[in-house]
Amino acid sequence: MKLDARALPLLETFGLRAENAGVCLGPDRWSGSGPTIASINPANETLLARLASASAADVDAAIAAASEAARAWRSVPAPQRGEAIRRFGQLLRENKDALGTLVSLENGKIKAEGDGEVQEMIDIADFAVGQSRMLYGKTMPSERLQHRMMEQWHPLGVVGVITAFNFPVAVWAWNAMLAAVCGNAIVWKPSPKTPLTALAVQTLANRIVETLNLPPIFVLCVCENAVAPALVEDARISLVSFTGSSAVGRNVAQSVAGRFGKVLLECAGNNAVIIAADADLDLVVPAVLFGAVGTAGQRCTTTRRLIVHRSLIDTIVPRLAAAYAQVRIGDPLDHQTLMGPLIDADAVTNYRRAIDEARAAGGRIECGGRALSQPGHFVEPAIVTGLPTASKLVQRETFAPILYVSAFDSLDEAIAQNNAVRQGLSSAIFTRDVHSAEAFLASAGSDCGIANVNLGTSGAEIGGAFGGEKETGGGRESGSDAWQNYMRRQTNTINWGSELPLAQGIRFGET
Ligand code: UN1
Repeated sequence: MKLDARALPLLETFGLRAENAGVCLGPDRWSGSGPTIASINPANETLLARLASASAADVDAAIAAASEAARAWRSVPAPQRGEAIRRFGQLLRENKDALGTLVSLENGKIKAEGDGEVQEMIDIADFAVGQSRMLYGKTMPSERLQHRMMEQWHPLGVVGVITAFNFPVAVWAWNAMLAAVCGNAIVWKPSPKTPLTALAVQTLANRIVETLNLPPIFVLCVCENAVAPALVEDARISLVSFTGSSAVGRNVAQSVAGRFGKVLLECAGNNAVIIAADADLDLVVPAVLFGAVGTAGQRCTTTRRLIVHRSLIDTIVPRLAAAYAQVRIGDPLDHQTLMGPLIDADAVTNYRRAIDEARAAGGRIECGGRALSQPGHFVEPAIVTGLPTASKLVQRETFAPILYVSAFDSLDEAIAQNNAVRQGLSSAIFTRDVHSAEAFLASAGSDCGIANVNLGTSGAEIGGAFGGEKETGGGRESGSDAWQNYMRRQTNTINWGSELPLAQGIRFGET
């Protein structure tokens, strides 16, 4: 297979080569006895590099190493753990350009978005540094004389992080940065479609571990998906954080529940934007373009449905189609490009199938709808009208740039359409009317984990809790109080008196 000449110099800046090991238990502890995985550039289908993946035995060794590191790390004062993450954030700043380029090369998202993803890692690192001094528990007034009651948060131990190809490094960082300041070791299983970005991040993690002489809390296990149960089913992993499809997420959740482990799920989204009659269309068009076409429609938060006030349909669709026509599709590293390729040939097949199904169901392809006949997995972003929300196609998340447009007459109807899917990640309304905005955010409004007013569904900041309801899985990662996922809560009652009063005033064995 032809080699991409741009890969090797870039990989070398991280100390990587054309052939690599895919398992890392800490600095200088690289291995991998499973099948070889090839990383392919989705924009031109050339080879970037190869690596030896993890066998089930390698996964076992990785979990053992992480368990040992976790035992040492849990006693390190949390602000010192934060200092390690502060240094990690610094290293990411120094390597932002190189890592952003590698993300772009391996995943196919445009360079600005590759860099944005590294910025998201830096942001969550900063957030985690602050959090390391704020792992607050509460104190509660005891009902008993001379008693004190409080809660503390302790590390879980080992956290397993399974990430998807579409955010190959940022989602690991959301989990790993917080899990680390919370006192855990992390075993990372990245997507086998984007292993090189994970290897690059691991080399940076190793530098932090080595420089600060830390227990090796960052463990990497690139493996084929068939090997993943070795990680999911292992009782030494206290929490499995999983990002990916709802079908796989359901299996992971059931498997982890069977051993009473914890899960944090971030599965499918089927995100809608409501455009009210009074919406500012100058905001709507760029927001929908970024939401539906950005990352080639491969974000969990991608705008997949547009619910438009009937009076605006004939204005909005042509305006969007005109904006779509301006989208430059091509090499993601070319600064003129707005949309790169899909991740692989299967993704193109899914796109094609969805377009065929839309036609067969009576939908109208307003623009786009074809795969490009050139090397690389390029497709045109498409807008489809005329399909009801209840149709099978609109109900499922096709990980591609396809936008389904429907009409509404009343706000209640629009909200009902927003909520009439099985997923519940992100949602948005464009309106200038405070009543409509607040109705959308109220308890009877959007049923999603994320609900925005006058901005799109994607591109969330790290400071908020990220995740959603229903088949999205219920997890919340990143900001707000998501750190609590990575800790166990302990309630403590301390008797500092010389009597033994019982709660609820019970007198036991006293006459
Ligand atoms: C994802 O697609 O898995 O809100 C994460 C966003 C990004 C993260 C997306 N900050 O679109």
